[in-house]
Amino acid sequence: MKEKNEIFLKRLQKHHDELRWLYMELYENDSMFAELCSKMYDFFAERKKDLKDLDEKREADPDWYKQNHLLGMMFYIDNFAGTMKGVEKKLSYITQCNVNYIHLMPFLKTPKERSDGGYAVSDFRSVQDELGSMEDLSHLTFACHQKDICVCMDFVMNHTSEEHEWAKKARAGSGEYMSRYFFFQDDAIPSQYEKTVPQVFPTTAPGNFTWLPDAGHFVMTSFYPYQWDLNYKNPRVFNEMMYNFLFLANKGIDIVRLDAVPYIWKELNTQCRNLPKVHTLVRMMRIISEIVCPGVLLLGEVVMEPEKVTPYFGTVEKPECHMLYNVTTMATTWHTVATRDVRLLKKQLDTLHTLPKEYIFLNYLRCHDDIGWGLDYGALLADGMKERSHKKYLNDFFLGYAGESASRGELYNADPISGDARFCGTTASMCGIEKAGFEKDNEAMEKAIRLDVMLHAYMFMQSGIPVIYSGDEIGQVNDYSYKENPQKAEDSRYIHRGPMRWELSENRFQKDTVEGKIFQALKKLEQIRKSKKPFVSYADTWTAETNDSSVLCIGRYLEGEKIIGLFNFSEFDKTVHFEEDNGVYTDLMTQKKRTLDEVNLPGYGFFYLEKEIKEP
Ligand code: GLC
Repeated sequence: MKEKNEIFLKRLQKHHDELRWLYMELYENDSMFAELCSKMYDFFAERKKDLKDLDEKREADPDWYKQNHLLGMMFYIDNFAGTMKGVEKKLSYITQCNVNYIHLMPFLKTPKERSDGGYAVSDFRSVQDELGSMEDLSHLTFACHQKDICVCMDFVMNHTSEEHEWAKKARAGSGEYMSRYFFFQDDAIPSQYEKTVPQVFPTTAPGNFTWLPDAGHFVMTSFYPYQWDLNYKNPRVFNEMMYNFLFLANKGIDIVRLDAVPYIWKELNTQCRNLPKVHTLVRMMRIISEIVCPGVLLLGEVVMEPEKVTPYFGTVEKPECHMLYNVTTMATTWHTVATRDVRLLKKQLDTLHTLPKEYIFLNYLRCHDDIGWGLDYGALLADGMKERSHKKYLNDFFLGYAGESASRGELYNADPISGDARFCGTTASMCGIEKAGFEKDNEAMEKAIRLDVMLHAYMFMQSGIPVIYSGDEIGQVNDYSYKENPQKAEDSRYIHRGPMRWELSENRFQKDTVEGKIFQALKKLEQIRKSKKPFVSYADTWTAETNDSSVLCIGRYLEGEKIIGLFNFSEFDKTVHFEEDNGVYTDLMTQKKRTLDEVNLPGYGFFYLEKEIKEP
């Protein structure tokens, strides 16, 4: 025990001055800082031995998550396996998928009817009854660790549900609790905020404030009216939320997703996003975790334009998040599918390749949210593509109306005033699998499967950690049943959050089925990714010119091994030449040897080509 205390003290000593400095700068409150430090110790003391051992192991190998072994899968517990205990029973399936990182979508207490998919938390310390209990969570994380699987959960820190005990007390008029949110007697200040703060849900939840008739006050609600923004100017809010974070970390969580983190600090006359103090808060959180639970990773949900995203990594000396979502690349990928033109994607990847290798991105084709078309419109304008008309084309394409598209899906938050709209759909539906299946068109199905697999192959080639949305591994299509549920009907994101179709997953070993074709292809890609050194995050990466605007070339090199990926983003067969490269490559999918002087890529085809280079 004594030895463990020393570990805590050593970590505290290392970070104390900086933490105190940041805390005092923000709050000027000595006793609250002292309370924070003493609680940090309590959480450290309560932390179980197996977790402390993991902390030390990871502390000794700080690059543990930057290798090529992690593959994530995200799912809602009820959709995937009913309950937490159910998830535990499915761990062998998860292992079969080569997955060793599971993101359990929000599972904390939330009002049934006003939950925003669980992102309106009413109690940060208890699990939704239908899904299990905190004991089940500890049990699950323990079982996962036995199998070397990491567990990720959401920490919804920007807001609480209106049903949270603080919100209830605030609504009842308690000044202390009102000061934990943003309460206003009239609309004088809210209307001033509205002048500069954009809307997150312009159609489903317009405005940033909600009038509470019973309380006679407005409350700030950047998201849904039942999600009340927390006021981090109040040190009590910060401290308590940190205690909640440490409580959850002590349940064995390895990766904490900081939901909507850019929004957590508000200032009048600003956009209330990405303000400098947000970074102070995240840096403090990082320090707190380094002291109490250094094995835990912070994953920032920063769905913003690229220049706003990377600052959330902090600096090498003062890091903030360990990992961030590669959101611009994700949106640009679908732009590339719709235009069959890889130039913007190449530019985006080139930008990423210049970033420090310490930066770890989470790569994905889609998640539980919409695709927001956050593209580099400056670059597109140079080619005559204007933002509004291009977004309209993208939405029309993925709705299946334009550009010879086979996609299916729905718009999200179509704003009649700005003309803006986002898009929802599963990867498979957006690739044409839904349409081909419905029309029983085998040729179209083959094409759709090729696109789906090529996109995964390309995604695995990016630096960072790939995350698959559960069901995508078997090409699961859109689920329209949400329309029959009045609580969900307005929110089209539910179209791509359907339950796991276990009966279809049975086909995953049969090579003549859609599920089998996708599952087996992904399995092969995943095995290649895990076994080849150039796939680690810190490998050299670049894109190369292919002289065909539909074919993307990504190269990766590490320690004498080089892998070239070629990806055809069009449905037409293509031939590319790399005349200056006369080496012999191995096609990693077939093990056949070949050269690069003339590469024939079928429509939506791809190659993973490996070249062994003798070190001089
Ligand atoms: C994040 C979540 C999204 C949710 C929002 C509000 O963006 O990904 O699903 O609606 O936060 O918590």
